[in-house]
Amino acid sequence: MTADLIHLDGRPVIIGGGLAGLMTALSLAPEPVILITKAPLGEQASSSWAQGGLAAALGNDDDPALHLADTLAAGDGLCDEAAARAIVEAAPEAIAALDRRGVRFDRSGDGRFELGREAAHSRRRIIHAEGDGTGRELMRALIAAVRRSPSITIIEGLEARRLLVEDGAIAGVLAQSNAGIAHFSTGRVVLATGGLGGLFFETTNPMGNFGQGLALAARAGAALADLEFIQFHPTALDGPSRPMQLISEAVRGEGATLVDETGHRFMSDVPGAELAPRDVVARAIWRHLADGHKVFLDARHSLGPRFAARFPSITAFCQASGLDPAAEPLPVKPAVHYHMGGIAVDAAGRSSVPGLWALGEVASTGLHGANRLASNSLTEAVVCAKQVAESLSGSPRTKIRRAKIADLPPLPDASAVRPIVSQSLGLMRDGPALRQAITELLPLAHSNSAAADPALVGLMIAVAALRREESRGGHYRTDFPLPAATARRATVRLDEAFAQARELTETPRPVRKAQS
Ligand code: SIN
Repeated sequence: MTADLIHLDGRPVIIGGGLAGLMTALSLAPEPVILITKAPLGEQASSSWAQGGLAAALGNDDDPALHLADTLAAGDGLCDEAAARAIVEAAPEAIAALDRRGVRFDRSGDGRFELGREAAHSRRRIIHAEGDGTGRELMRALIAAVRRSPSITIIEGLEARRLLVEDGAIAGVLAQSNAGIAHFSTGRVVLATGGLGGLFFETTNPMGNFGQGLALAARAGAALADLEFIQFHPTALDGPSRPMQLISEAVRGEGATLVDETGHRFMSDVPGAELAPRDVVARAIWRHLADGHKVFLDARHSLGPRFAARFPSITAFCQASGLDPAAEPLPVKPAVHYHMGGIAVDAAGRSSVPGLWALGEVASTGLHGANRLASNSLTEAVVCAKQVAESLSGSPRTKIRRAKIADLPPLPDASAVRPIVSQSLGLMRDGPALRQAITELLPLAHSNSAAADPALVGLMIAVAALRREESRGGHYRTDFPLPAATARRATVRLDEAFAQARELTETPRPVRKAQS
């Protein structure tokens, strides 16, 4: 690898090869762009694994206003209503754009989209492909489109390590491959790096995704928002596979129920039952497991022999584990699935650092609030790709500046951080465990080791979780089990997080009376 890729200087650099990165690169055409991904396109991207689909108000009984109402209700008071409205209103056009790019969505005999149902949606509004293979089909069509596009220079096997900043603005990207370090001089960078499930032992995300984009943005000085809100999917297959296999919420949307080892349907008294918002279902399962029960998803009566046709991928991995979803209940438990928090961005995807845009799971637009409504995230990525592309191509070209090249620690490895984060930032949190995590993560985050970037991400989340003394959506504090009277979003920068972490770990804290 050459130290300088001079001939590419000045081109926007898109970091991340999932749905968000691909759609941004395509939306920028014919402007020449560079797309860098640490894995070959389509691999190690959560988008490829998406089962459910994309939410959009396309049914005869539906309307974007109803989609918005469901989004705000699930978001538990923390959505940015204007941002959410703009995204759900643009959702039908986003589906049309994917259709034009060759994505083969499932359609009924009359040619209309088949619409699935997922938790906390008041209507059937999930557009899907290959039954439960939506992500695979999306990525197939878009990777082909990106590879055909002459304006997109794809560099696979290259991991972004640092954003270079001069005078407070983006000046370049340092990236690394087996062949060495690559330096891109550019004033325009888009982060589309996905989520952070790999910080946890039990996740449905690729294990290598530890929040790289958050670390890059934080080190560049960007504000991050609502970091404490992590979504646990209620129904990961409870088996030895890591990452865990997801059993789509669409299975419950088709009528499957949650039962324990006695056959008791323990969610039946909860409003919405199995289709209550995801955080509610995940905590109910967690509590039932903590009480010593086993929990199963039972699709025998609702789907039975129809299961395999509607959910072929789930059927395949269940069968590989010796389970038959049509004939027996499937053991399930919650697992980390999605990060609602992220790089704080405006409606055009601009972060607080000039020259840095972000979209997809790594960004926080305000759509998801405290708890993401199922299948809103792929939709958000497609809608925001267009907005980011428009904003970026309308932004002035900055003079190429030669930034100082930073020393790089070894390639990141989250294994030292996973036990700390899994212990303290799970479904149930409390002050003492968060403080302990901060104490352990702070020296790692300051180190020059492979743990530094994952620890920095875990530390910022732990600080945000400790500061939020309430329970709301995906953030539940056993020492503060009630929501605060006023919902407020919260942002943090790296220097503030470090200062607060030092203060929290150095200052003895008075004992506070917990809420009852
Ligand atoms: C699922 O299929 O249950 C996941 C959908 C999503 O996370 O949006």
